[in-house]
Amino acid sequence: MDKFLIEGGIPLEGEMVTSGSKNAALPLLAACLLTGEPVVLHRIPQVRDIATMKKLLAHTGASIEELGAELGDGSVRICAANLLHPEAPYDVVKTMRASSLVLGPLAARSGTARVSLPGGCAIGARPINLHVMGLEQLGAEIVQSHGYIEARAPGRLRGAHIRFDRITVTGTEDMIMAATLAEGETVLDNAAREPEVADLAELLTKMGARIDGAGTATIRIQGVDQLHGAEHTIIADRIEAGTFMIGAAITAGDVLVKDCVPAHVAGLTAKLRQAGATVVEAGPAALRVRGSRRLRAVDVTTEEYPGFATDLQAQYLALMTQAEGISFITETIFENRFMHVSELAHMGASIRIEGSQAIVAGPRPLSGAAVIASDLRASASLVLAALVASGETLVDRVYHIDRGYEKIEEKLAALGARIRRVKSK
Ligand code: EPU
Repeated sequence: MDKFLIEGGIPLEGEMVTSGSKNAALPLLAACLLTGEPVVLHRIPQVRDIATMKKLLAHTGASIEELGAELGDGSVRICAANLLHPEAPYDVVKTMRASSLVLGPLAARSGTARVSLPGGCAIGARPINLHVMGLEQLGAEIVQSHGYIEARAPGRLRGAHIRFDRITVTGTEDMIMAATLAEGETVLDNAAREPEVADLAELLTKMGARIDGAGTATIRIQGVDQLHGAEHTIIADRIEAGTFMIGAAITAGDVLVKDCVPAHVAGLTAKLRQAGATVVEAGPAALRVRGSRRLRAVDVTTEEYPGFATDLQAQYLALMTQAEGISFITETIFENRFMHVSELAHMGASIRIEGSQAIVAGPRPLSGAAVIASDLRASASLVLAALVASGETLVDRVYHIDRGYEKIEEKLAALGARIRRVKSK
């Protein structure tokens, strides 16, 4: 297993270019299953979850042509002319819970879908009951056996009024995709408003779907008989951009985060400003973040978009270990997303967990130590902490970070960080 060896104490300085969004690319790749015609996607990040999703598409019978060498931006052409195996097997789902995103498209296009049930993971139980409820309302028959969910819809799916009890991002995406080919109108209430949902709707609209309201809590989809090929560029990864913004703040550095969408990180920007960092828009698609040696403690509660993203909570918590005062970090989306806390404490942070709240007392000098990454964003938090720690930090299990950050060590090194990957034998 690869590790990162990081020597802290150097402010990040310079420019970084944001990659395409992993969490937008995953549903957009799944959407390619909705048509037999080729779909070309640009700015696909080269990260492990994307490789897993491509493997899953290939398993169903789709052809995948990498255009990166030609166009140099992670572009790919997917053609799902024949869906030979409309299923997501266990060995794929166990490494990537977002595999449930193929449930809706496969059921809608081929009338049958078989997806291994995802288990819990480090951050929580991760059930998919809302995907199942939605598909049932669209007329699919759902059977659970041998660890798999099977959806059968011999005829076409039928439009329905679906109200989500709680907001689910991939659940909303899955139902939008299923509804594009259903007969009649589908209304999704209490839908996720994340930019990744809006990006999916944009691709689907290019493919011939009729969707209104994506990006709001009520989405209306008029089903069509079939969808066609299209070409689309994925939006910027707001979580990667946010992670580097926090990197600038925590190291008292000065970083220009390029090719991002400032509005998508507005929740973080507000908190960084309150904490004493300077964040200014540098053109329509760039933010310049300057840290400060005297940061103030500022509370955060994670919420669905446009609130503060749970995917930035771990990184923000690392920042608060360096801020003056007590901050309360409340996690409302996942029940167990504080796995980074014990590792940060190992480096000298003072943090107490009370239920869904982490109470951070700062500033505390951090010192390099051997720490273990437990999930994708927790690993980013440990890397950020290591950048301000004295001495060397060895972050183990960086395969978690490789799931979702494109070339993170190269991007950090280009900003002056002393970070290197130690390959496992
Ligand atoms: N939930 C249910 N039932 C369901 C679906 C979700 O109870 O059927 C619960 C979840 O257990 C959770 C809450 O609803 O407590 C929200 O989960 P959601 O479905 O929104 O999460 P997700 O769609 O599985 C996506 C991102 C996550 C991100 C969350 C929340 C992708 C591929 N993943 O997950 O990203 O944390 O939304 O914003 O889009 C990450 O990138 O590190 C990551 C975990």
